Amino acid sequence: NRRHIGPGDIRAATPDRPLVCLTAYTAPVAAYLDPVCDLLLVGDSLGMVIYGMDGTVGVTLDMMIAHGRAVTRRARHACVVVDLPAGSYEDGPGQALESARRVMAETGADAVKLEGGIAVEASIAALVGDGIPVLGHIGLLPQHAEEGFRIQGRGEDGARQVLEDGLAVERASAFAVVIEGTVEPVARRVTEALSIPTIGIGASAACSGQILVTDDLLGLYDGHLPKFAERYADLAGTIREAAQRWTDDVRSRAFPAERNTYAERPAGKV
Ligand code: KIV
Ligand code: NA
Repeated sequence: NRRHIGPGDIRAATPDRPLVCLTAYTAPVAAYLDPVCDLLLVGDSLGMVIYGMDGTVGVTLDMMIAHGRAVTRRARHACVVVDLPAGSYEDGPGQALESARRVMAETGADAVKLEGGIAVEASIAALVGDGIPVLGHIGLLPQHAEEGFRIQGRGEDGARQVLEDGLAVERASAFAVVIEGTVEPVARRVTEALSIPTIGIGASAACSGQILVTDDLLGLYDGHLPKFAERYADLAGTIREAAQRWTDDVRSRAFPAERNTYAERPAGKV
């Protein structure tokens, strides 16, 4: 019953107003981002940025559902999408349906996202046929990047693969597609070839919209920052400074002050 942007609104996005998308994993951050974003993604990047894992492969469906619920408790406006994690859909349409139905029923999200093009075309079609909106994800696929993250779309074969994956996602009736880590000319070709919006991350300004990992945007993540990310705040510095000032105040007994302290009520007062 919230008045919000649905998958159909994302699909209908026009080039004059690029889609603005960020990741969210927790209720308070969802509340802060919700009014300004078109779409909030509960990404399996939470494995790295929240849980300190080396990649996204160890993330479970239960973890995604717990964080999905936290985000939908506060999102009122933005379209909320939850990632299906590695191991929860690759067996085929049956497994994908079972996982996606759990996510939708237990989180109240608007849609799910899964990685791949041609390889998951049948699964995307099965979810959409079951009434579950799907956001696609092509180009660099972190769940499958065993040998490290490599930029996609280079060379004629690379370009053709990303384009064919995009066309497969569109055929399967996804409402939009994330293009990650892909060279600019290919991102442009895919965006021109598809009727659904492309949401880029490390895929140039040619896409219909942009998404970033919020912890990268805010300077909160303590790991490697890829070239395609841009830091708009230094929350790590803010946290360190606040913790240091509080430490100094505790050690000097400046904290707690009188305003932080409970006294016995004076006699006669209620
Ligand atoms: O998990 C994630 O954060 C993502 C975005 C980077 C698209 O999939
Ligand atoms: Na992801």
